[in-house]
Amino acid sequence: MLGKDQPVRLQLIETKQGMSPLKGVMMELEDGAFPLLESVKGTSDLEEGFGDANFSLLVGAMPRKQGMERSDLLSANAAIFADQGKALSATAAPGSRVLIVGNPANTNALVAAANAPDMLPEQFMAMTRLDQSRAEGMIAGKAGVDVKDVDRVIIWGNHSATQYPDVSHARIGGRWAKDVIKDDKWLTGDFVSKVQKRGAEVIAARGASSAASAASAAIDNIRDVHLGSKKWQSIGVLSDGSYGIGGGLWYSVPCACPGLHYTRVKGLPVDEYSASMMNATEAELVAERDAVRHLLPSSYDAGVPLQKLVALKEAWDANDKARIQEASKSLPARFQAAVKSALSS
Ligand code: LMR
Repeated sequence: MLGKDQPVRLQLIETKQGMSPLKGVMMELEDGAFPLLESVKGTSDLEEGFGDANFSLLVGAMPRKQGMERSDLLSANAAIFADQGKALSATAAPGSRVLIVGNPANTNALVAAANAPDMLPEQFMAMTRLDQSRAEGMIAGKAGVDVKDVDRVIIWGNHSATQYPDVSHARIGGRWAKDVIKDDKWLTGDFVSKVQKRGAEVIAARGASSAASAASAAIDNIRDVHLGSKKWQSIGVLSDGSYGIGGGLWYSVPCACPGLHYTRVKGLPVDEYSASMMNATEAELVAERDAVRHLLPSSYDAGVPLQKLVALKEAWDANDKARIQEASKSLPARFQAAVKSALSS
């Protein structure tokens, strides 16, 4: 996930009741004799678990069971993520990355970020990479090509049944996917609903939520952001007004990954069908956000930190020390410290 030579220290957080199974997992990790695994710690204390973490994968949430609606999970899980946001803010390494996998992932990311006053929204990503991988696999299967030949499949919006898997910009071996597949009815019909409902289909078959494919997608997500990738990657990130999506939502958009960070791919043409699909998933995220408002600090304004970050980036790109110092003044305290140490090194 972090490169072939990067040693890792794992800090695993479990509930108190989960400590015994966690011990078993830790034994298995030890027995795996992984050459890059430097140490493994298990704890039920959030601050200890997130202490100095560079990457945090928030996979723990109350799992959805068969027949359960995602909305049933909203309140229970959002409360868990508020606590995690607070602990991350207090203890994680400055500039750390957080990937939210536990459902409802997008709104959990919003709640965690809103409860992390010393972090920036850009540090929080909600995972839609699993949906992207599912969509790429289905497109490859339909076209009879290797999945590695498929790129630019986009997942817009929520990691839920309203998500919009969009192939209008997708390519297969460098050709437009639509021209290769030549079946618009499938691309806007069965394909879309199959990707949207794949999570529920896995639950129905396994009696439990996806595990291996979700873990694989989490690894892909962090690896591509950290090490860089030529392919676009869909990530649930703070909506910044592009494509008309605002409102402090964690909405999945295509991102370019040059390495160490991501940038939103902006300005893609959106046809009428796509616009209506994008609006539908936005509406669901707005409803989810409004359902967890009680867990957001009253002072929370998702737009402000992002604008501050943009000002800092512009100053940084211009290599203007005075402006960097000025822009960093209004950033969260731990960011100011990181900027100060970067300037002095
Ligand atoms: C998945 O997409 O496989 C899961 O997010 C489904 C779920 O609700 O747990």
